[in-house]
Amino acid sequence: MAFGVAARLALLFALATCAVAGVTSEYRRKLEATVDMPLDADVFRVPSGYNAPQQVHITLGDQTGTAMTVSWVTANEEGSSTVRYGRSAEKLEQAAEGRHARYDYFNYTSGFIHHCTLTGLSHATKYYYAMGFGHTVRTFSFTTPPLPAPDAPFKFGLIGDLGQTFDSNSTLAHYEANGGDAVLFLGDLSYADNYPLHDNRRWDSWARFVERSVAYQPWIWTAGNHELDFEPSLGETVPFKPFVHRYPTPYRAAGSTEPFWYSVKVASAHVIVLASYSAYGKYTPQWAWLQQELTKRVDRKVTPWLIVLMHSPWYNSNNYHYMEGETMRVQFERWLVDAKVDLVLAGHVHSYERARRFSNIEYNIVNGKATPAPNRDAPVYITIGDGGNIEGIANNFTAPQPAYSAFREASFGHATLEIKNRTHAYYAWHRNHDGAKAVADAVWFTNRYWMPTDDDHV
Ligand SMILES: *[C@@H]1O[C@H](CO)[C@@H](O)[C@H](O)[C@H]1NC(C)=O
Ligand SMILES: *[C@@H]1O[C@H](CO)[C@@H](O)[C@H](O)[C@H]1NC(C)=O
Ligand SMILES: *[C@@H]1O[C@H](CO)[C@@H](O)[C@H](O)[C@H]1NC(C)=O
Ligand SMILES: *[C@@H]1O[C@H](CO)[C@@H](O)[C@H](O)[C@H]1NC(C)=O
Ligand SMILES: [Fe+2]
Repeated sequence: MAFGVAARLALLFALATCAVAGVTSEYRRKLEATVDMPLDADVFRVPSGYNAPQQVHITLGDQTGTAMTVSWVTANEEGSSTVRYGRSAEKLEQAAEGRHARYDYFNYTSGFIHHCTLTGLSHATKYYYAMGFGHTVRTFSFTTPPLPAPDAPFKFGLIGDLGQTFDSNSTLAHYEANGGDAVLFLGDLSYADNYPLHDNRRWDSWARFVERSVAYQPWIWTAGNHELDFEPSLGETVPFKPFVHRYPTPYRAAGSTEPFWYSVKVASAHVIVLASYSAYGKYTPQWAWLQQELTKRVDRKVTPWLIVLMHSPWYNSNNYHYMEGETMRVQFERWLVDAKVDLVLAGHVHSYERARRFSNIEYNIVNGKATPAPNRDAPVYITIGDGGNIEGIANNFTAPQPAYSAFREASFGHATLEIKNRTHAYYAWHRNHDGAKAVADAVWFTNRYWMPTDDDHV
């Protein structure tokens, strides 16, 4: 009897606070091992030709894409660090000179890692580029993003925790089929650190695997815990050593002092990348940078969409990595609500979850107000650490599903975010199990600055 009353009160409360219950998808992925592709798999093939450039990848070389940084590895000898580029594949009229470096990790020595920034590019323009001069030349192309403007459309791919399993390959193939213009990568790239001695050959194989996308469009990098490679037992005490040698970011252009937190302005989006594994407490460099960024450098009249990336999610109702993002949430959540951030994208948890617009910013240690509540100024939190890595799926959600959680499912996949104009963006999550084009979760988001309507009650 008492239980019945309590249950009915709970139901009334649930109805009062939130009109629609969240969905925990019943879809269950077939249980099978998530195994890395073998080193002799087709996707890891070394390109033919003496000292051929391999592991080619690009990222923005400045904040808006009038510069592009090209990176690659040569294995036999140093070779040339020059990139030639131009608007036609036949006439690469411009040249830029890069630099190269190698690093050691325990008993591994990397190849010659080249980085070369192409500058003076025009927006929304297709460029061809080539490197490997003197030995084996390879040619690629990319299109620069449009000039930042409030109604400039753009399609992002959202991928996290990719790794290099057969599922990772499926995720990448599905993303390619859906055709984004750039990827917002939510951290945890190669998972080389899952191997004895952090076998850095798996950093090389991963870069050869993703080359088919990232040599042709910029991926925006977030650092995850699998980028730390901090292993005192191997004498490796400099965090992020392989990552920083291989994956540059345009942090200086963003006024940052470390490659792990920075921002870019792509079309109508201002994208802020935060570092879950660098200090963020009060007065730290990241804290000071983010405060300036949100209060001084974001201009919603030019870039209406404010998107924040991080690796460890603040709102996660999976028992896997439960509450790991809590200290950063406590530090920064109010700032993000005050700034009316549209979306917060995270990885780390190997499943999928989309939240409603909720915040938890009233608590002050004595008032007891520590329950997340609906808030139209709050971002939507999306956890998309479901790229398909070797650690497998995180198939253990908390029960009951919290009110803030709109949809969650333990499957591998990727998402796309199609910004249409200053008010509307179409978001879609694709599980790998379905055909590439099938959508398993979709929302039309409205912009928090230009059209802050209730877009999350779905
Ligand atoms: C590094 O050490 C491991 C373990 O001793 C060994 O199996 C491996 O072959 C070594 N690698 C190199 C490049 O020497
Ligand atoms: C990876 O996916 C690509 C594209 O679908 C395919 O051509 C390739 O054979 C796959 N490789 C492996 C090892 O599954
Ligand atoms: C799910 O997580 C809870 C909390 O950590 C744990 O007690 C439980 O054993 C887990 N269940 C499974 C099936 O792993
Ligand atoms: C913005 O895009 C949405 C979705 O495509 C469309 O319905 C709306 O009319 C557009 N707004 C303007 C001002 O064009
Ligand atoms: Fe992670």
